[in-house]
Amino acid sequence: MYPKFRHEAMQEGHDAAVAEIDEQIAESKEHAEMFRSVLEKAAKRFAALAKVEEKHAKHYQAQKDAIAA
Ligand SMILES: [Fe+2]
Repeated sequence: MYPKFRHEAMQEGHDAAVAEIDEQIAESKEHAEMFRSVLEKAAKRFAALAKVEEKHAKHYQAQKDAIAA
């Protein structure tokens, strides 16, 4: 949200607009927390997947090396 809007609404006495902006600010904070939480979970899952894929890659490479030998 744009802080200037809230400031102007307050100066102009638009209480309903100020209340609405405050609600939007609170909602944006909630959403930011949700996004942060999802990103954190995704980062953990990708880190785990990276380990598994590294294992696979090493296994495939070992097989290739055995064939080439
Ligand atoms: Fe794999």
